[in-house]
Amino acid sequence: MQHTLDQPLLEIDHLTRVFLSRQGLSVTRLEAVDDASLTLTAGKPEIYALAGESGSGKTTLARMVLGLERPSEGTLNYKGRSVGELSARDKRTWFYKEVQPVFQDPFATFSPMKRIDSYLYETARNYQVAKGADVDKRIDEALRVVGLTLAEVRGRYPNELSGGQAQRVSIARALITRPSLLVADEPVSMLDASLRMSILNLFKDLRDKEGVAVLYITHDLATAYYTADRIGVMLRGWIVETGPVERVLGSPLHPYTQLLKSSVPQADPDKAWSAEPTLAPRPVTFPVSGGCKFAARCPKVMDRCRVEIPASYEAEGRSVKCFLYA
Ligand SMILES: Nc1ncnc2c1ncn2[C@@H]1O[C@H](COP(=O)(O)OP(=O)(O)OP(=O)(O)O)[C@@H](O)[C@H]1O
Ligand SMILES: [Mg+2]
Repeated sequence: MQHTLDQPLLEIDHLTRVFLSRQGLSVTRLEAVDDASLTLTAGKPEIYALAGESGSGKTTLARMVLGLERPSEGTLNYKGRSVGELSARDKRTWFYKEVQPVFQDPFATFSPMKRIDSYLYETARNYQVAKGADVDKRIDEALRVVGLTLAEVRGRYPNELSGGQAQRVSIARALITRPSLLVADEPVSMLDASLRMSILNLFKDLRDKEGVAVLYITHDLATAYYTADRIGVMLRGWIVETGPVERVLGSPLHPYTQLLKSSVPQADPDKAWSAEPTLAPRPVTFPVSGGCKFAARCPKVMDRCRVEIPASYEAEGRSVKCFLYA
């Protein structure tokens, strides 16, 4: 497949996904992802965190990147090709080798009745990554990247593995095809805090040693800060602030990012981000204006915010969707 280094790995431009739901005679329209833009460069693999409250659109965005959900509007290109327009054959022989998912709950993806190595062989077979004895070699290689071996895993059932081991196997499964991009939707939220760090460190190793980019989806700012190079903060489908993680979370500019950061409990201010914060629950009341989606809750709201939608403005090395920076 033709691909040049200056071409982005992933190019998301003004991407929108609308869901219509019918209740009786009325139809409500929900922009689960709304005018979202982000780019991952090909030359330097990075970990990009998508963070936001429950319902902010993280999974919907991830499902579009994985080709599981069609965009309603906007551009979604992987290595210059529109993901929504790939043929079934291109998806099977190319796209799904390159872009692999890692899910939240490893035990939900593995049947308790099936030996766990059978999933690894299935992936190797489906994508024809190797032939004959080389299949075992490739699977063993992928397992070694995550700190396991085929000898250790062979013949075992999911219930014989710890949660951390099972998540390692599911990441190894994703690595068998030598992907360029992992889309990991809440990959550590089911794991104990101690295992969480080891999986997040694994993502960093994959980036540094295997050249794999990671779209890391989380509602947890602390792990985003620890793991990611860049972050995008989502609010009801919008990416309200995006840039290097130290800048965005170190000195947030968007009033919403500021609110999120201040809602993170910090027992010891010297150890900022070492706690385990979760984001505040989504408010049940929605503003009805056509303006900024944060206007009703924003401490810095101005008149125009209630009627006009802000663009994304460049400020202090990041991009902020807020009139304060216009
Ligand atoms: N298939 C669908 N049909 C209708 N609405 C949907 C569908 N999928 C998602 N939504 C709605 O889109 C919005 C975004 O959902 P999404 O699952 O992307 O959020 P999320 O950020 O991943 O949340 P969480 O942190 O809870 O996983 C929600 O309001 C959700 O109810
Ligand atoms: Mg989700």
